[in-house]
Amino acid sequence: MEAFSVNFAFEPHPSPVPANERAARLVDPGFGRVFTDHMAVMHYSEGRGWHDGRISQRVPLTMDPASSVLHYAQEIFEGLKAYRLEDGGLALFRPEANARRFNASAQRMAMPELPEELFLESVEQLVLQEREWMPTVEGGSLYLRPFMIASEAFLGVKPSAEYLYMVLASSVGAYWKGGARAVSLWVSHDYTRAAPGGTGAAKCGGNYATSLVAQQEAIRRGYDQVVFLDAAERRWIEELGGMNIFFVFEDGSLRTPPLTGTILPGITRDSILQIARDQGLIVQEEPYSIDEWRADAASGRLIESFACGTAAVVTPIGRVAGPDYEFTIGSGGTGQLTAHFLERLTAIQRGRSKDSHGWLRRI
Ligand code: COI
Repeated sequence: MEAFSVNFAFEPHPSPVPANERAARLVDPGFGRVFTDHMAVMHYSEGRGWHDGRISQRVPLTMDPASSVLHYAQEIFEGLKAYRLEDGGLALFRPEANARRFNASAQRMAMPELPEELFLESVEQLVLQEREWMPTVEGGSLYLRPFMIASEAFLGVKPSAEYLYMVLASSVGAYWKGGARAVSLWVSHDYTRAAPGGTGAAKCGGNYATSLVAQQEAIRRGYDQVVFLDAAERRWIEELGGMNIFFVFEDGSLRTPPLTGTILPGITRDSILQIARDQGLIVQEEPYSIDEWRADAASGRLIESFACGTAAVVTPIGRVAGPDYEFTIGSGGTGQLTAHFLERLTAIQRGRSKDSHGWLRRI
C-alpha cells in the first residue's frame, strides 16, 4: 500500500524525538505516557462533512473555551493496538470492529459517523509513520487512541455543528504497574456506572468520568480496580472501570455478562468468546450476581475470574471484596484457562498462531 493517500496529507514533524531519546522512552513505557511525534487530525462541519485529514506534528490544541465538548461532554473514543508480528511485519487487531463501534458510539452521542475507510486509513497512516515507536519490550505494542470531540463554540445544549477527530499513538508495555499479576477488586454497592437507556454501551468519556470516584474508593481501600453492579437492582455484575469480566467454572464452562446496553461491547471480550467457542467450550452470556459469585467462589464451583480489554488484555482476578465480605478466587493467582486465553489471544495478535477469523489487518 502507498505510504500516504489523498485523504490524509502528511506534514512532517520539524524536530522529531531523536532516536536515542526515543529508545530511552521505550525501555519501560508502561501505559499511556509515551506519545509519538505525530497524530492524525480531521475536521467535520455541518454541510461540508469530513475534510482536511492530515498526519501532522503532535502539538497542544488551541480551542475556543466555549467548545461544547468542554461543557456538555459530547465526546467518544476508541482503543486499539498495532503489533509487531513474528515475521517482522506490522498489523492492527480487528480495527474494523473498532470503526463500527466508534460509529455506534457516535450515533448514541448524536455525533456524525465517520466512514469506516477513513477511520482505518487514519490509524494505518499514523502507524506507518510511527513504526519506530513500536516498543521492543515483551508484550509491547503501539496503542492507538482515535477520538472525536464537539468543537463548535456554542453554549446552547444541542449537538455540535463542528467536530474534531484525532488519533494519538502511544508506545505501551503492561497496563498494570508492576507488570502482569492477579488484581484485586472492590465491588461498588454505592456507585453505578450506567443505567438502562443510558450510555453504558457507548465508548464515551463520560462513562469513564463517572467510574473515577468508585475507582478512587477501591484504591483507598487497598484494591486495584472497581467492579460495578447493575443500576436497577444493584445485584448483577456488569464490568470494571474499563474492562469486561469473565467467570470460569469447574466444569470448564465460561460466563460473561450479556450485552444489554449498559456494558461496553468489548472487542477483546468478543474475541475470547469466539476463541472459547472454537474450542468447543460452553460459553454463556448470562447475568451473574454478586451473591452467586461469592457462593460459587466459596463452594469451589467457580475456579477463575478474569478481566479483559484492549489495554489490560487478559488479567486474572485474585481477590474480591465489598462492604462486609471478602473472597479469594481459586488460589488467588492466575488460573489455567485465564493463562490459556491470554496465550491464545496474544499468539494470534503476534502472528504466532493461525489467524482463522482474519482478525489481523497487515499494514
Ligand atoms: C482500552 O482497553 O482500550 C480502554 O479503552 C480501556 C481504558 C484504557 C480506558
